[in-house]
Amino acid sequence: MATRRFMTLPRHILEGEKLHPEATGELSAILLQLGLAAKIISLEVNKAGLVDIIGFTGNENVHGEQVKKLDIYAHEMLIRAMDHGGHFCVMASEEDEDIIHLPPHQKIGKYVLLFDPLDGSSNIDANVSIGTIFSIYKRISEGYGPGTLEDCLQPGYKQVAAGYIVYGSSTILVYTAGHGVYGFTLDPAFGEFLLSHDDIKIPKCGRIYSINEGNYFSWPKGLKNYIKYLQANLFEGKPYQARYIGSMVADVHRTLLYGGIFMYPGDKRNAKGKLRLVYECNPMSFIIESAGGKATDGKIRILEKLPESLHERTPIFIGSEDDVLLVEKFLREAVG
Ligand code: AHG
Ligand code: MN
Ligand code: MN
Repeated sequence: MATRRFMTLPRHILEGEKLHPEATGELSAILLQLGLAAKIISLEVNKAGLVDIIGFTGNENVHGEQVKKLDIYAHEMLIRAMDHGGHFCVMASEEDEDIIHLPPHQKIGKYVLLFDPLDGSSNIDANVSIGTIFSIYKRISEGYGPGTLEDCLQPGYKQVAAGYIVYGSSTILVYTAGHGVYGFTLDPAFGEFLLSHDDIKIPKCGRIYSINEGNYFSWPKGLKNYIKYLQANLFEGKPYQARYIGSMVADVHRTLLYGGIFMYPGDKRNAKGKLRLVYECNPMSFIIESAGGKATDGKIRILEKLPESLHERTPIFIGSEDDVLLVEKFLREAVG
């Protein structure tokens, strides 16, 4: 057990690479560089209460929401950290309306990087957990030139790796390359990510539901019925617990570890809900499925949805297998 504590992120990635003789080492280099970017953003997030970085820039992002400076910092830091390794042909960020091309002098690679630089940003001022989400694909466009929008609009099942970082009571990085889900906690003393959660499996059934209940009266009937069913019954003698942080990355992280379900449904006001398919739902779904869970929009598996535009939204129900199957059943059975 003692040796586990010293399994660093770089060592884990390199040892994982050795298990795949066909690997070129590129994906490892990408993950290591993302780990570095995570450390830099984590430092800045921890300083947020100390320096005059909090507050609105006065600009709105492409979704018409107010953007805080830390979002922009994280967005720019990720681009700076990731645009010079020669691994990517194109990138896209939740904070940029269009795809992001590599600087003209940089070598073009075969991977595509999509990210939500700072998730849960409305929580920054209250010291509540926020995070970064990333998603990696192989290019599908022909040739060796710059990548295209088409490269960024692939269905989620084609991801080669995905991960997130939660800046919470400690900073934790969780990633999967499709074989197992691993969590690393940042040791602030010597600045290294150490394996703290080996081969994470989500419980088959949980006892926590997570949803913004303020939207209750706009929900579809089946969802109202489902939540009332959870509230009105005991499960092995106990009721479900309600937990909602308001940062998807943190809510899904808890769901991964404890089980249960996180939901952001479509409702009367927003038929597709709020969360973005390519930046948030696909990477989190790839991780949850790799850990044995499920993710659906109510009818269709999230990872099979073909994105039509970069910033499109989707309803999402994600978490323990039994919980997701049950909410799907309630949604199917009720009309209206
Ligand atoms: P972001 O900060 O990247 O815009 O994402 C915020 C999202 C997500 O993290 C969270 O689950 C959701 O907003 C919360 O929305 P509500 O306030 O509508 O519950
Ligand atoms: Mn987000
Ligand atoms: Mn964001």
